[in-house]
Amino acid sequence: MVLNLFKKQSKKQIIALDIGSHSTKIMSIEKEDHLVKDFVVAPTPENVFQDGLISDEESLSSFIGSQIGAMNIEDEFSVILGISGKGMISKKIDVPEIDDHMIPEFVEIEAEQELFYNRDEMELDYQILEGLNFKKPENKSIFVVTVLKSVVKSYNKLLDKNGIQCDVLDTNFGALFNAFEFNYDIEESENYMLLDIGKTTTNLTVVVKKQVIFARNINLGGDFFTSAIQKRMSVDYNMAEDLKISTVKEGEAPQDIVSLIESTLNKQFIEEFISPYELYNGLFPEQPINKLYLAGGGIQTIGLISEIEKFFNCPVKILDPFLKLEFPLELKKHKEDYKRVSSVVTGLALRSLE
Ligand SMILES: Nc1ncnc2c1ncn2[C@@H]1O[C@H](COP(=O)(O)OP(=O)(O)OP(=O)(O)O)[C@@H](O)[C@H]1O
Ligand SMILES: [Mg+2]
Repeated sequence: MVLNLFKKQSKKQIIALDIGSHSTKIMSIEKEDHLVKDFVVAPTPENVFQDGLISDEESLSSFIGSQIGAMNIEDEFSVILGISGKGMISKKIDVPEIDDHMIPEFVEIEAEQELFYNRDEMELDYQILEGLNFKKPENKSIFVVTVLKSVVKSYNKLLDKNGIQCDVLDTNFGALFNAFEFNYDIEESENYMLLDIGKTTTNLTVVVKKQVIFARNINLGGDFFTSAIQKRMSVDYNMAEDLKISTVKEGEAPQDIVSLIESTLNKQFIEEFISPYELYNGLFPEQPINKLYLAGGGIQTIGLISEIEKFFNCPVKILDPFLKLEFPLELKKHKEDYKRVSSVVTGLALRSLE
């Protein structure tokens, strides 16, 4: 498996795999006509992740094997996997004026020093950022991404056990950007923030001058709301999840839960954005965010979008990963049902078009 964090080519049929802590999304896209060929969304078995790392390899591996096995894929294929959370770090590094051929070595040394891992423990990739150093144009800013080899290995094992080949590993924020770039006309002059709020992770990605310049994982998602409801109402987790989801169905909403979410939990949730947002503004003071695109199941939480809009004080839209894709009739319902949760898997699957 080759870590291939930015966009590169692959010739085989690509099956994109986004193993979320709530649901697993699998997709493949036909190159010629931008047609979605396969698209599966299935609940991920419970308790296979702990603190963002795979904790039950056996169950997860047999789940993945059975989901992909049921898809009846005829051609030779390889899987592209999106990873996020633990073990993955992204960072902007400024390098002085040096020859391009010295950049890899410089990046490796800086990464070791800043991240406290040895070079041989990390997979590493980087991209030179264009047009950002207004004050010192001779400097280069480099966006570096590292993934711990131990994490790569644990995902590799999952697929190996099923005899599935995985050629490319991508980051969830890279995939999110891919889905955004494919479907929208990104303006050079706008600074976008993409937020994917899942069950346990929120992916925050900033796009400036048509490139990712900042990415962070926040260890918080829809689970925060469910767990809080569970505690407050003294019910089990599934009951709390049902109660939460009922708040967005008209006429069914228990008022005390609506007000718990709207008056307390949404605000607590947003507080977790303060520090990454301040960090971003400190690193890129000349690039204030002025547009927001949201994805992930968590954005359906009652009142959350308007709270996000207030906090970032800029227009908010929902990222539609399917804008420019065609769906066969039998997948049209999936298209409507799973639009919010499918930005990452779509961004991964779109690599087959590059
Ligand atoms: N109607 C709804 N109202 C509120 N929350 C919802 C609703 N529907 C789904 N969710 C929440 O969305 C979350 C799942 O979203 P998603 O599928 O994007 O997560 P995931 O990708 O599996 O998780 P992660 O990326 O964090 O590992 C769950 O926490 C779920 O409770
Ligand atoms: Mg997710």
